[in-house]
Amino acid sequence: MLAELSPALIAEVKLAAKLLAAKQHICILTGAGISAESGIPTFRDKQTGLWENYGVEDLATPEAFTRDPKLVWSWYQWRRQLVADKAPNPAHHALAQWQYHAQTSDQQVTLITQNVDDLHEQAGSSVTHLHGHLWRNRCGQCQTPSQDQPRTSYDNRNTMSFDEALLTCPHCGGYIRPDIVWFGEALPIQAWQIAEEAAANCEVFISIGTSSLVYPAAGLAQLAKQNGAKIIEINPDPTPNTIVDITLAEKAGVILPLLIEEITAL
Ligand code: APR
Repeated sequence: MLAELSPALIAEVKLAAKLLAAKQHICILTGAGISAESGIPTFRDKQTGLWENYGVEDLATPEAFTRDPKLVWSWYQWRRQLVADKAPNPAHHALAQWQYHAQTSDQQVTLITQNVDDLHEQAGSSVTHLHGHLWRNRCGQCQTPSQDQPRTSYDNRNTMSFDEALLTCPHCGGYIRPDIVWFGEALPIQAWQIAEEAAANCEVFISIGTSSLVYPAAGLAQLAKQNGAKIIEINPDPTPNTIVDITLAEKAGVILPLLIEEITAL
C-alpha cells in the first residue's frame, strides 16, 4: 500500500510512524475532513463545503435561532438526514484500531474531535466532542437535555424523526435545538478541559482534516507546541498552521491506515 504514495510522502509517513511509536502521550484533533471520505460535506472546501453554500450567520448562531427557529431547525434536520446513513471510513477505523492497540502498550492516545457526527464512536473510538453532538437535542431556553427526543444516544439511529416541525420543551415551553456549539457560544467545559490537558501534556499532536481556522480548537496545536510537542498534520490541502513539523499531504483515509500499520509494526 505504501507503494501507492510518492517516495517523499512514504518517507514522511515512516518518519511520523517512528516518532509516534517512540512517544507515550499522543493528542489527536480531527475536523470535518476526516468524515469527508464517508460522504459528509466539510464546511470550507470549495464548492462542496457547507459554509460555501449556506450562511453561517443564518444557521449556526444563537441569534439565527432566535430570529428564525424554523429555518435553523429545518436545516439541522436536513443535515441529520444527510449524515444518518453514513459509516466510518478507513481513517476512523485506523484511529480506533490504534486506540485499541494502545491499551496494551504504554501509549495514551487521546482523541478530540470538532465533528458533531458519531463516526469515531461507530468505529469504536473513545472520543471527546468539542462542538457538541448532531444526534442530541436540548432546550434553547432552559438548556435541559431532551431525553425524550429520538436518537439522543448513538445506538437508536433508526428511530430518528426528521420532521421539520418545531418541538417545544416540556419544562419551559422553549424551542428545542440541536445540542451543537454555534458560533459565539462557549465550548462544553468538561470537553474543553480534557482537550486542553491532553494538548498541553502530549509529546505529539496530530491535526487531521481541519482547516485550523476555528478557535479555540485551532489553538490546541499551538498549546501543544508551546509545551514542547511535535506537530503532525494530515490534510491534502495546505492550512494556515505554520507550526507543523511533519506534513502528510494526503487524504486521511489513505494516510491513517498506513501510518497506524507502521506504528503498530514497530
Ligand atoms: N482527509 C483529510 N483532510 C481533508 C479531507 C480528507 N479526505 N478532505 C478535506 N480535508 C480537509 C480540507 O482540506 C480542510 O482543510 O479538511 C478540512 C476541513 O476544514 P473545514 O471545512 O473548515 O472543517 P473544520 O476545520 O472541521 O471546521 C471547524 O467550523 O463551522 C465550524 O463547527 C464547525 O467544527 C466545525 C468548525
